[in-house]
Amino acid sequence: MDFFDVVTTQRAIRRLRPDPIPDVVLRQIMDAAVCAPSGGNRQGWSFVVIRDTATRARLGALYREAWGELMNVPYYRDAAAAPPDSPAGKLVASARHLAEHLGEAPVLVLACIAADGAPTLTTGASIYPAVQNILLAARALGIGSCLTTIHRFRDAQVKELLGIPAGVETTALIPLGYPLRKFGRPPRRPVAEVAFADRWGRALAGA
Ligand SMILES: Cc1cc2nc3c(=O)[nH]c(=O)nc-3n(C[C@H](O)[C@H](O)[C@H](O)COP(=O)(O)O)c2cc1C
Repeated sequence: MDFFDVVTTQRAIRRLRPDPIPDVVLRQIMDAAVCAPSGGNRQGWSFVVIRDTATRARLGALYREAWGELMNVPYYRDAAAAPPDSPAGKLVASARHLAEHLGEAPVLVLACIAADGAPTLTTGASIYPAVQNILLAARALGIGSCLTTIHRFRDAQVKELLGIPAGVETTALIPLGYPLRKFGRPPRRPVAEVAFADRWGRALAGA
């Protein structure tokens, strides 16, 4: 696929088929992950690629519990009350579907990063480019994905389940699977609204 077709149609795909992803395809995705930049080229990342049925089911159960906690956060509780055909209503329905079926995705990738002490913005900046590479590579190969983080509501249990060592942060749990629905351009604020020329607020020509 053309790069710009990939990048403009990569979006959160939460309804996934259970069909397996071939090893060679998974390997291509992980190869894209490790091409990402990281601060000082430290490459402190690790990725647990989970295909084992029982482990996925346990992660699915933990994720579902985390979803329940998220629904106590006012922003998400309000979104859950939005009309089902509104953007917020659709997002919550999609996220709820994933919460109920995460363990059925054929592959779950847990992206981790070594962190000395409390993680900072820079720590995150050294793992999320690799996560985005996973999302983009998956899209290029016709595989749906979604960056998720709410497993962190059950972080201790996730770490214990997967044997994550001390000093390593879990940063994203990414379900991968062939999509049930079509990819498409995601709704985003226009460039003209968010990109400025030389100075904050000054219109960027051609945007
Ligand atoms: C930092 C971050 C955390 C996210 N956490 C979750 C999550 O826990 N569960 C989920 O279903 N989606 C999660 N998402 C996905 C966002 O909801 C999604 O990227 C956004 O709604 C845009 O979706 P779209 O690309 O389909 O338009 C997360 C995205 C980011 C960037």
